[in-house]
Amino acid sequence: MDTLAGAPMPTEPETPSSRIPAEKPDGRHGDPSGAAIAVAGLSKTYAGGLAALTDINLVIQRGEIFALLGPNGAGKTTLISIICGIVNPTSGSVTAGGFDVVRDYRKSRAMIGLVPQELTTDAFETVWNTVCFSRGLFGRKPAPAIIERILRDLSLWDRKDSKIITLSGGMKRRVLIAKALAHEPEILFLDEPTAGVDVELRRGMWDMVRKLRETGVTIVLTTHYIEEAEEMADRIGVINDGRIVLVEEKSALMKKLGKKELRLDLHVPLTEIPPELSEHTLSLEDDGSTLVFTFDTQAERTGTTRLLGDLDRLGIRFSDLDTRQSSLEDIFVSVVGSASGANSHGETAP
Ligand SMILES: Nc1ncnc2c1ncn2[C@@H]1O[C@H](COP(=O)(O)OP(=O)(O)OP(=O)(O)O)[C@@H](O)[C@H]1O
Ligand SMILES: [Mg+2]
Repeated sequence: MDTLAGAPMPTEPETPSSRIPAEKPDGRHGDPSGAAIAVAGLSKTYAGGLAALTDINLVIQRGEIFALLGPNGAGKTTLISIICGIVNPTSGSVTAGGFDVVRDYRKSRAMIGLVPQELTTDAFETVWNTVCFSRGLFGRKPAPAIIERILRDLSLWDRKDSKIITLSGGMKRRVLIAKALAHEPEILFLDEPTAGVDVELRRGMWDMVRKLRETGVTIVLTTHYIEEAEEMADRIGVINDGRIVLVEEKSALMKKLGKKELRLDLHVPLTEIPPELSEHTLSLEDDGSTLVFTFDTQAERTGTTRLLGDLDRLGIRFSDLDTRQSSLEDIFVSVVGSASGANSHGETAP
């Protein structure tokens, strides 16, 4: 069987602990390497024969915000589901907080809060009861003050007595987040947390996630809103077709792959790039009326001055010029596009 859950708590008997023996002085558990999550040689083939994940190796450090990006069907939810013990891996190993997610499921799962991609909540229960119940499932003592803080942080406090069925889609998604936080997990997975959440509330959720990170919580999020990853993440992982194609610090990634464009609005459109300009990286857009010069932001000399001199010599005049830096979205599209030969998220930022 591929899917073990539905039930957030484990049912299988305890097995001898396979945990790396590393009790922290403060009593918190932890892998001595400091890793919150360690995935090694992980593959998953679903019952029908579909290889959803192939040889995934990934270490996520305690206290980081890691954004997992990838097109639809890339394997993001499958990877999260395996780490959370909801789906069985075909091969490889995964630890969360130092606990093996298969052998020590109960212990690893207790450290994890999961906000699932699919909206699944008990329609006729109140917000308050459903969130308190989630805490109880992990054997934690009732803590009304903690639940109140979570609901206030998620702007759900005034709806605490509402039945879930009466909430809007964005509110239901926030209830899922509240449920995931109710047992005070050390690792939080957010699978598309802001899908269907309006812009203002999304910003509020980002603030909340940052606050959680400040308290030491490790956060792994998937998102199709690239600006969300750009805004939030310390590191970015790109997964495509079941394989990790890139893992990098966000700032390093944007520096390394970041290209800058100089865009010139031409007085007279060109039908082709004159051969005299062949040494520059140029392209024509907008039916030849925009000349686009792409240059590497890391290069010592960008070549802009030489290009402008060459244009002047050739009598090519322009009425306006503009520069733009490639966004994380451009980088994502180029990485996924070159890995699969297809460009699944075809839009680029304006
Ligand atoms: N229970 C299942 N049985 C069989 N195949 C599955 C199952 N769950 C997912 N898959 C397949 O595994 C692949 C990866 O799916 P997954 O849900 O992990 O992708 P994803 O990256 O989360 O996509 P999305 O961005 O659409 O959420 C897809 O081809 C999907 O059809
Ligand atoms: Mg998914």
